Amino acid sequence: MSNIVDPKEGYNLYANNYQNDYRKLESFDKGEFLKLLPERVDIAVDLGIGDGRIVDYLKKISEKFYGIDISSKMLENCLKNHGNLDLINADLDFSIPLKSESVDLITAYFLFVHLKDAKGFIEEVYRVLKNNGLFVFNLIHQKKPPVLKAGKKKFKIKSYYHIPSHIEEYLDYYWFKWERIDIFEDKFWVSKIYRAEKV
Ligand SMILES: C[S@@+](CC[C@H](N)C(=O)[O-])C[C@H]1O[C@@H](n2cnc3c(N)ncnc32)[C@H](O)[C@@H]1O
Repeated sequence: MSNIVDPKEGYNLYANNYQNDYRKLESFDKGEFLKLLPERVDIAVDLGIGDGRIVDYLKKISEKFYGIDISSKMLENCLKNHGNLDLINADLDFSIPLKSESVDLITAYFLFVHLKDAKGFIEEVYRVLKNNGLFVFNLIHQKKPPVLKAGKKKFKIKSYYHIPSHIEEYLDYYWFKWERIDIFEDKFWVSKIYRAEKV
């Protein structure tokens, strides 16, 4: 039997195993994610940065870079992996701890699946982005969380399946101009990657 834990507890437990999943995570975008990133921005923030799996790409294209995550252990590993970074330990489910209209690029990779309030989150992204700012994120086709193992413990991390058409309605509601790339495995979509511009 595996119990369901919240993301903070779950990622603190799983942090030291997370790198073993990089290959699997990369199979959800097959490199397409990079095509949706802008060439250069002033300020970029990665929400749910984890242990910094995609930090190298984001640092390369931004003058100033921040990361935010609820798991202190993932952030600790992020610092170990990437050295000096500006990181904030916070829960993003109800608010983003940043000033309004202060950021050019927000990325959120494999984060939506852990957020309860997707519409509230998109509203917060809208608030924090500058005009013409970009929001690049993905949705995965995961209806049930996988069983994870850390040492002798087996557990699932609480997750939510957000139907893509609902997320797209929220993007439309806030007048984002958006495009999407669908990633398929066999005949089924496994991931949808979005680039949404605040207009
Ligand atoms: C699947 S990992 C993705 C990490 C990274 N974005 C990547 O692509 O490898 C999900 C991350 O989101 C963080 N997270 C989950 N729920 C969160 C919340 N409510 N607020 C902030 N971070 C959260 C977790 O701690 C974890 O590091």
